[in-house]
Amino acid sequence: MKLVVDLQDKSYSIHIKPNALQSLGEILCENNLTTELFVITDENVKALYGEKVLTILRKAGLKPTMFSVPAGESSKSLQMADFLYSKLIENRATRKSTILALGGGVVGDLAGFVAATFMRGVKFVQIPTTLLSQVDSSVGGKVGVNHRLGKNLIGAFYQPAFVLIDPDVLQTLPYRERQAGMAEVIKYGFIRDAEFFEVLNNNIPALLNLVDGEMIESVLARCCSIKADVVGKDERETGLRAILNFGHTIGHALEALTSYGIFLHGEAILHGMRGAVHLSLLENKMTRDEAAISLGLIDKLNPPPIPKSISVEDVLYAMTNDKKRTTEGQLWVLLREIGDAELVRHVNEVNVREAIRYVLDYPVN
Ligand code: GLY
Repeated sequence: MKLVVDLQDKSYSIHIKPNALQSLGEILCENNLTTELFVITDENVKALYGEKVLTILRKAGLKPTMFSVPAGESSKSLQMADFLYSKLIENRATRKSTILALGGGVVGDLAGFVAATFMRGVKFVQIPTTLLSQVDSSVGGKVGVNHRLGKNLIGAFYQPAFVLIDPDVLQTLPYRERQAGMAEVIKYGFIRDAEFFEVLNNNIPALLNLVDGEMIESVLARCCSIKADVVGKDERETGLRAILNFGHTIGHALEALTSYGIFLHGEAILHGMRGAVHLSLLENKMTRDEAAISLGLIDKLNPPPIPKSISVEDVLYAMTNDKKRTTEGQLWVLLREIGDAELVRHVNEVNVREAIRYVLDYPVN
């Protein structure tokens, strides 16, 4: 299946199909990306798919070079970008080189950032290998690294030449990561598609256990097509694109308060979505029935416990450091109903506190 992200001269395709990795050489050739290929990956993905990808590229007559970085968020740094610039220079990369990002969100963001900045920008390709990166971070061109004072503070909008999604690689993804990645999947149902929400609500165990390849493929495609549509309308997040941050206001605060060490990103977002649903109810946007159905789906993904030491004040304080906040205040993504999101700046503070309390009381409330 092929989808298009429509961004005029920056438009690109998302290829989704079983065993898609085998087509990598062919698609690179179709896109005239055949000279000086540099694959950037991490140690874990290299062990699983490094040799396979190199062999596929060599069989297509290409001459790839691979660099790997340690797995984990700490690699998303300017230091690691500098290490990769050195590797590229030592290996005689030029402005005609292409960078292939093979891995999850960290690799995609880091390699994309290096591609955006090396020699004022070289072509790059996203080959996401986690559920989260397949449905979210590989599409839309947000690339960047973290700063010691905050996550994702250094970066660019820089679109890939194409995205290649192979659902088969999810087989080697740990269950916990599939569960956390599913948070970003259900997000699309909440914000844009009530029918998709229903499909997900009826099939979570089958999806998490990857029992039906066709269903997985169609779920990945639905997520990517919603993301492509939103990004096509608002690439630089001047408005609409912010709906993709449903659940992220409280979610980011929980990640920061736990020093990014307890929750996987999607797990924090599950809590954030619980808060956003409850706030939508308190703000009289959503009905009690719809809120209950919404929370039912989120809870199927087992959000992990939140440390009891975190207070409502802590969350409010951490939210003020979020980069989505402007002088006009905190931006919330609330729901009018399942499938219909709204961006809201002015929310009653008593309700915000109550929604955070509700999140922190999990699982007893
Ligand atoms: N992950 C949200 C976005 O790409 O805008």
